[in-house]
Amino acid sequence: MGVKSVGVVGCGLMGSGIAQIAASKGFVVTVREVNQPLLDKGLKSIEGFLAKGVEKGKVTREEMTSTLSRLKGTTKLEDLADCDIVIEAITENMDLKKETYRTLDAACKKSTIFASNTSSLSVTEMASVTKRPSQFLGMHFFNPVPLMPLLEMVRALQSSDETIATARAFGEALGKQVIVAKDTPGFIVNLLLVPYLVDCVRVLEAGIATKEDIDKGMVLGCGYPMGPFTLLDFVGLDTTLFIADIMFNEFKDPRYAAPPLLRRMVAAGYLGKKSGRGFYDYSQKKVETRP
Ligand code: 3HC
Repeated sequence: MGVKSVGVVGCGLMGSGIAQIAASKGFVVTVREVNQPLLDKGLKSIEGFLAKGVEKGKVTREEMTSTLSRLKGTTKLEDLADCDIVIEAITENMDLKKETYRTLDAACKKSTIFASNTSSLSVTEMASVTKRPSQFLGMHFFNPVPLMPLLEMVRALQSSDETIATARAFGEALGKQVIVAKDTPGFIVNLLLVPYLVDCVRVLEAGIATKEDIDKGMVLGCGYPMGPFTLLDFVGLDTTLFIADIMFNEFKDPRYAAPPLLRRMVAAGYLGKKSGRGFYDYSQKKVETRP
């Protein structure tokens, strides 16, 4: 069965991007936030992104209007009951996710597929609290969702072939290139990206070079679009630490161990772009992503 209507739980950075891309590709989207101010903030960020796209000549005014017309906001999970697929993009907290899935499971029609945008938690464990574990998978999008061409799908131990096939067709209809991983901490991309990022912090901690030179080295020497410290600020130092801790707890491999500097910066509230300061300071002027 194909997907026509989409539910998104969470309208933060990732949820708003997922809701936007789905609506822009012609799907009818209902996005849910816990309260009206957060919902308004998320919907405003979608409008802002589209308006910037119009300014840049990437999106027409008509496309912006029709995208927004397919997008509805709500504060009730029950309003997602008739969606063909529900993508959850809430805080990375297993208990909260399980509670959300229990409510969705009771509210949604039998055929609804559930997909978590988790970057590191077990989708197998989330699927186990529902009465439809075979209709469950991970759909891990990348930030900024409307611009990044990748969708990493995660197969829970219980996911059926039919669920994976339907989700793949949906992901491709969103214009994404799909890759599939087993349910293991970090999946494919974060399993490789996070050790790289924490290694870069170790290089800085060891005093081998400045953050600016490490960033410059990886951008100009390896063709990465952003240097590691710019990317850490962009992804969020707290998010990176959270993923590193999950991977370290599971594998007990020092490759994933968070360096003291990263943990202390998070403790200080230096979380990256979102808090105005991470490895770089965002309080004054726009920081260039490229040297
Ligand atoms: N609407 C439509 N198009 C837009 C747009 C908008 N609002 N804003 C920008 N664009 C377009 C631009 O026009 C441009 O298109 P072009 O290539 O055809 O000219 C393209 O998007 C790139 O935008 P910019 O030129 O303005 O900016 P950059 O070249 O600096 O690229 C970036 C920005 C795409 C964010 C790039 O820096 C990048 O790829 N960075 C790496 C991001 C990354 O690694 N993300 C993954 C993080 S890890 C993750 O998410 C997983 C999680 O679990 C941790």
